[in-house]
Amino acid sequence: MASGASAADPKVESFGKTKDGEAVEIYTIGNDSGFSARIMTRGATLVNLHVPDRDGKLVDVLLGFDDVSGYESEGNQYFGCTTGRVCNRIAKGKFSLDGKDYTLAINNEPNHLHGGVERSLDKVVWQAKSFSSDKGQSVRLTYTSPDGEEGYPGKLEITVGFFIPADRNSLSISYKATTDARTPINLTNHAYFNLGGEGSETVLNHRLRLNADNYTPTDDTLIPTGEIAKVEGTDLDFRGFKRIGARIKSVGETAAIGYDHNFVLNDREADAAMTLAAVLVEPESGRRMRVMTTEPGIQFYSGNFLEGQKGKGGKTYAHRSALCLETQHFPDSVNHASFPTTILNPGEEYSTKTIYAFSNAEADAAK
Ligand code: BGC
Repeated sequence: MASGASAADPKVESFGKTKDGEAVEIYTIGNDSGFSARIMTRGATLVNLHVPDRDGKLVDVLLGFDDVSGYESEGNQYFGCTTGRVCNRIAKGKFSLDGKDYTLAINNEPNHLHGGVERSLDKVVWQAKSFSSDKGQSVRLTYTSPDGEEGYPGKLEITVGFFIPADRNSLSISYKATTDARTPINLTNHAYFNLGGEGSETVLNHRLRLNADNYTPTDDTLIPTGEIAKVEGTDLDFRGFKRIGARIKSVGETAAIGYDHNFVLNDREADAAMTLAAVLVEPESGRRMRVMTTEPGIQFYSGNFLEGQKGKGGKTYAHRSALCLETQHFPDSVNHASFPTTILNPGEEYSTKTIYAFSNAEADAAK
């Protein structure tokens, strides 16, 4: 580590083995305030994120497990993983590209979800390396997905970087990829947040603001109809801070059984590199999270399928005890020519970035 920086160097430890005997490592990066993240090489997965409350008390705000076998269990609903090659749904697991038809695994009847079954990006073991300087600490994970893996064309070389700056409590995730044949790609992180600490009862009292005037309506299997509709006058209007529980009952009676919607982020200012997509506040602890992204959409998922599985330290993860804010391109984009494209061409670089920045809600309000 360069002189002047004082946080301990990034740490790498063994996290055990996969059921196939592959070694899994876990990296810790952080800064002097105690803000830290742990990332394991299986699935380039964010396992822990320790964030201070208004009094500086650190808790882990992410749902997850204590070991690899937990992540391999049925109870793992993509906790903290890098999701892809194409996150979210592809209708009936089918798409056509350059006159060729592709068929993918149906793992969310009747659709394809989050990149497949055996070798989706959340299940493979990535290579990793950590870095440290006066500016902060990072871990960079790489994976080469061979041509045809999970039915997707092209050999894809993927890098996901996690970075914590020395002087701020933020985690930045950057995604890069290249391919040797045209292929769809849509990467996100599937962190389940509870800003009161993982294992807290529900997120219904969290307040959320989304920078989205529009969303993409879906059919009953959560595949977009192609329409872009206004949130105004609907339960999806989070243009001002709203308590998540305020209108969840009526959304719960729809096919989505809660919030499970893609919001179309408002255009960013011409000179801005990133859009402020979401702000989430947990009033009890004062923890506030801002999500900034280069992506055009965000899937807000209110943990509707959490079912009381046992997570870290044997804690119970009840229905709606966490939420996901998945920055991404729109679901099923590969079948919607009117949506921003998810096709990566050989010779191009896929490059996106999302930042989760944490602060104290009251201190921010007083500024
Ligand atoms: C989807 C949900 C799905 C969940 C699985 C989310 O990204 O939108 O419908 O149940 O992932 O963990």
